[in-house]
Amino acid sequence: MRLKARSAGPLQGRARPPSDKSISHRALIMGAMAEGTTTVERLLEGEDVMNTAGALRAFGASVERSGDSTWTVTGAGGFRQANETIECGNSGTAARLLLGAASGYPISARFNGDQSLRKRPMGRVIAPLSQMGARFDGAARTLPLIVHGGRLKGITYRSPVSSAQVKSAVLLAGLQAEGETILIEPERSRDHTERMLKVFGANIDYADIDGAQAPRVRASKLSGAPIYVPGDPSSAAFPVAAALIAQKSEVRIEDVLVNPLRLGFYETLLEMGASITYEERNDPIGEPIADLVVKTSALRGAAPPPKRSPAMIDEFPILAVVAAFAKGETRIVGAEELRVKESDRIALMVEGLRACGVDADELPDGLVVNGEGPKSVRGGASVRTQGDHRVAMSFLVLGMASKEPVIVDEAEMIATSFPGFVECMTSLGADISQL
Ligand code: S3P
Repeated sequence: MRLKARSAGPLQGRARPPSDKSISHRALIMGAMAEGTTTVERLLEGEDVMNTAGALRAFGASVERSGDSTWTVTGAGGFRQANETIECGNSGTAARLLLGAASGYPISARFNGDQSLRKRPMGRVIAPLSQMGARFDGAARTLPLIVHGGRLKGITYRSPVSSAQVKSAVLLAGLQAEGETILIEPERSRDHTERMLKVFGANIDYADIDGAQAPRVRASKLSGAPIYVPGDPSSAAFPVAAALIAQKSEVRIEDVLVNPLRLGFYETLLEMGASITYEERNDPIGEPIADLVVKTSALRGAAPPPKRSPAMIDEFPILAVVAAFAKGETRIVGAEELRVKESDRIALMVEGLRACGVDADELPDGLVVNGEGPKSVRGGASVRTQGDHRVAMSFLVLGMASKEPVIVDEAEMIATSFPGFVECMTSLGADISQL
C-alpha cells in the first residue's frame, strides 16, 4: 500500500497516541512469567505486540482480549515447551526479550522473524545469555535460531551497547538464575523493565558500580498485577513534529508516557526553539504521564549530545525531518545503532531527504541536515521505506508541510507500532490518502 501526504492548512485539536509499545510487550511477557492474573488496560494492539501475545500462548500462557483494549494474561507458572516456532514478525523487542525470558526455563524453542528481523543482530543477547548457561544451536548470530534454556547462573554483564532490549533479556533471564544478575551499560537505556519488575514483585534493586546505578535481580517469582499502558512518546513524536512544522498549528497530545529516559527527542526540540508544554497527569503504574501542548515554532538546528542517543533512539528519523524545516545545521552523531534498526535508518533517511530536495549527508554514526527554515522544503518525491514503519511515518509528516506532496511505499508496516496513524493525523487536519 502506498500513501500520499500533502500540505493542508493548520493542525488543530487533540489526540491520544497509541499505547506504548515497550510497556505493552513487557506487560504481556511478565504477565506470562507470573503466577496469577495480569490485566493490561489499553494494550497497544499493533502487530509487534500481537506477535508477542502469540509467542506467549505458544509458551503455555493464556493471553486474551477481555474488553476494549483490555487484555488478561494468566501465566502457566513459567514457560512450557512450545510445539511451534516462535514467530516474532518485525519485532526486535519481541525476539530479544523473549529469548531472554525463555532462556530461564528448561525448554528448547526455535525463534524466527520476518525478512528485516532476520538481518538484525542477535549476538548481543546470545553472548550474555550463553554466559549465564543458555545454549544456542549452531554459529548463527541472526534468526532463525534455537535456544535451550534452564539452570542459569547469575552474571555481572557489561553490555557494549546501551540497549534496553539487551538489558531486559538479561534481567528476565536473571529471574530464574542462581545468584544475582547485574547489567551495566555505557549510558542508561529506557528502564521500563526495571520499573515493571518491581510492580510484579521481583527481587530487583540497583547496585552502585563505578558511580553509576546498575540494575540487579535475584531469582524471583512474579505475581500478576494490574498494568495501565500510557501513550507512546515515540508515536506521539509524529503528530508533535507535524504540529511544529505545519504552519499555524496547535494540538494537544494526551496521555503520553514521559519517562525521562524516553524524552531525548523532546529535549532536543526544546533546544531547537519548539513550543511544547507538559501538563502532568496521575501516575497509576510507576511511570510518569503528561499531556503535551504543541504550537508551530520557528526552529533552529541542533546538535544533540551522543550520550542522549539511547533516550531518543527511535526518534532520529522524525528529528531528521524536523531538522529540514529548521534554520541551520542539525548534526546527529553517536547514533550508529540506527544502522541495525528495522532498516539502516541513516542511509534511508538521507536518501529520502535528498529526494525531497533537502541538503543531507550520511556520517558513519549519524547524519547532518542543513535546514533552510519553514516553507523551504520541496518534497515532491516517492520515497523508499524498505518496510520501516518509522521511516514511512517520518516522510508522511514531511509531506504534510512541504511544497509538493510526498508518497511512501510499504505503508502497511505503520501498523506494527501506530495502528490508526492515518485516522489520527487526519483527525488533526492532515491530508493523507491511499494511492
Ligand atoms: C526497545 C528498545 C530500543 C528501541 C525499540 C524498543 C525496548 O531498542 O529502539 O524500539 O522496548 O526495549 P534497543 O534496545 O535495540 O536500543
